Formats: sequence, structure tokens, C-alpha cells
Amino acid sequence: MTPLPDDLARALDDALDPIPTSRLTPIVERLIGDYRIGRAGTATAILRTPDDAAAYAAYRMPATYAAVREALGQAADVAVGLAPRTLVDVGGGTGAAVWAATDVWASLEEAIVLEGSDPVIAFGRRLVATAGNAAVASTTFRPLRMDTTVALPDADLITVSYVLGELDEGTRTAVVREAAARGGTVAVIEPGTPDGYRRVLAARDELLAGGLTVVAPCPHDGPCPVAVERSGTDDWCHFAARVNRSARHRRLKSGDLGHEDEKFAHVVAVRSPSEQHAANRVVRHPLQRKGLVTLRLCTGAGGITDRPVPKSRRDDYRAARDTSWGDAWPPRDHPGS
Ligand SMILES: C[S@@+](CC[C@H](N)C(=O)[O-])C[C@H]1O[C@@H](n2cnc3c(N)ncnc32)[C@H](O)[C@@H]1O
Repeated sequence: MTPLPDDLARALDDALDPIPTSRLTPIVERLIGDYRIGRAGTATAILRTPDDAAAYAAYRMPATYAAVREALGQAADVAVGLAPRTLVDVGGGTGAAVWAATDVWASLEEAIVLEGSDPVIAFGRRLVATAGNAAVASTTFRPLRMDTTVALPDADLITVSYVLGELDEGTRTAVVREAAARGGTVAVIEPGTPDGYRRVLAARDELLAGGLTVVAPCPHDGPCPVAVERSGTDDWCHFAARVNRSARHRRLKSGDLGHEDEKFAHVVAVRSPSEQHAANRVVRHPLQRKGLVTLRLCTGAGGITDRPVPKSRRDDYRAARDTSWGDAWPPRDHPGS
């Protein structure tokens, strides 16, 4: 479970409590439809009004926070020397990535959110106003409409989370290319769908062409072994973050479950050549049978393999039982496997 920080959960409650759920429900339904069909490059912005911003924050922000938190956590786990001081969050919406990144890296001191929708900026500003973390509380939200001539400021960390799908192809390429030129570390996170994965693969190519090295999820800089043309399957690389559903969330999405699994695809790349790749990445839920754990791994050699870890290898088996989809293998504190 990736819970929201308490101060973000409180700020969301304070901002959303005065708005009747009945006013937000139809907007949530429209947004779900808009995001499902994909509105890439359409002239009409999806989030246009204060209620749109509130509805987005209510039903999506906990999930995008969790996905970014997991993606950056994977990177921090491998690239242990990273200590970003400045963050630029591109198409940052209500600022989910700022909250997530500061949770991963206490080194962050300054954050800028670049965002095209004024009501979304207003909502994001309201949320950070009561943040406990000084970097979050002092976040600057700046209006920016991205197009093919987009220019970004330099930053130690640039996040591009759940944005590429809203941009036409030319703008998408320009944004990632510019992020690769300006960022010490660049994180691109997209929905964990085949389309989201394809956008991440294209972004990964741009980041590698810009001289960066991938630290998450891939344990190598070579071609993705999951891509259709290599694997011959229609599989796609993605991960999942478990998100707690608040009572409001359940009302808005008319669901009963206390949680949902946010599927995401991502790439995090760094400029620093001293950072290492993971040896392997676990790319599916581990299969647990009696006395045997089987890990599906993307390997440092650039392939996919199923690695059996039998109970007879006691220490490895114990480590494998504690290993989850998305983890590096072997774990950093158990390097022997
Ligand atoms: C799906 S939301 C994601 C928000 C945030 N990054 C997150 O992870 O929750 C996409 C955001 O990108 C913004 N956006 C879309 N197209 C844009 C453009 N051309 N220029 C600037 N912002 C844009 C939208 O206003 C929206 O806030």
C-alpha cells in the first residue's frame, strides 16, 4: 500500500469537503471517459474549471501520487548516490509528483510545477500551502502551455507524470528531449496500458539518445525485451501501486473495494555515469508454490527469464518470499543471489 502523506490527505479533505459529491460525480465520469479514449493533442483542455480540478484531485491524485512514489522509489533504491536539490514537474497538475519526490528524496529543497490549466494551478497551490515539508510548502506553480517549442528550466530532477498521453506526438517528443537536455534525472510515468508503455518506450529512446542511463525499471540500457517485435507477444512492461480508497473516493467512483491497484509504466534515467543498474528487475507478481518461489526477471543482459528459487537455498528463498513485483533482484541487503 502506498498511502498519501497525512498532510496531503488533510489538505485534500479541507479542499474537497465543502464541495458536494453530487457535483463532482458527473465530472469524474466525464474525466474517466476522456482519459479512457485518450485526447492526445486535442485543442480542448480536459481540466478547465475549478470543479474539474477538484474532481481530478479527488479521484486521480492519490493514484498518480502512488505511481510516481513507486517509480521514483525504484530509482532511489538502485541509484543510491542521487540527492536531487531542485525539481521541475512538467504538466504537474495539482502537484502529485512534488509530494511523491520529496517523500523519496529528503534532499529536495525547491520545486517548480509547470502546468497549463489555471484552475488546476490554483488547486495545487492550495494543497501545498499547509504542507509540513518546506520544499513542498514553497513549491512555485507556473503557467506553461507546452508545444513543440517548449523550453524547460534546468533541474536536478524533472518529472513528467501522466502527461504525454495528452500531448500530440511532436510536443511529446519535444518535452522529453528538452527534459533530457535539462534534467540531471528524468522520470516519465504513464498509465500502465499498452499505449502508455509505448509512449514510455519512445521516451526511453529519447533519454538514451540524450546521453542518460536508465536506472528504473530496466536493469540495462539495451532494447526492451518485452517489446512486441522482440518478444513476439502482445505483453507490455508495467507495474502496480496499491492505493487506499477513501470513503469519498468510493462514493465518486461508485466502488466498494477499500483499495485499487494503479497500473503504471515508467522510465527513470540519470546523467550521472557513476550510478549502477539493478542486476535484475522483477517484472511480475512472484509465483509462490510450496517450497518454491519463481521470479520473472528482466535481466541485466537484456532478456526475460523465470528464476526458480527453491527452499533448499534458504537465504535466497527467504529473500525471494519478501520480494515483490517491481523490486530489484537480488535485494540490495542480500547481494548473494
Ligand atoms: C492527467 S493530468 C496529470 C497531472 C499530474 N502530472 C499527475 O501526475 O497527477 C495532465 C496534466 O497535464 C496538463 N496539460 C495537458 N496538456 C498540457 C499542455 N499542452 N501544456 C501544459 N499542461 C498541459 C493538464 O492540464 C493536466 O493538469
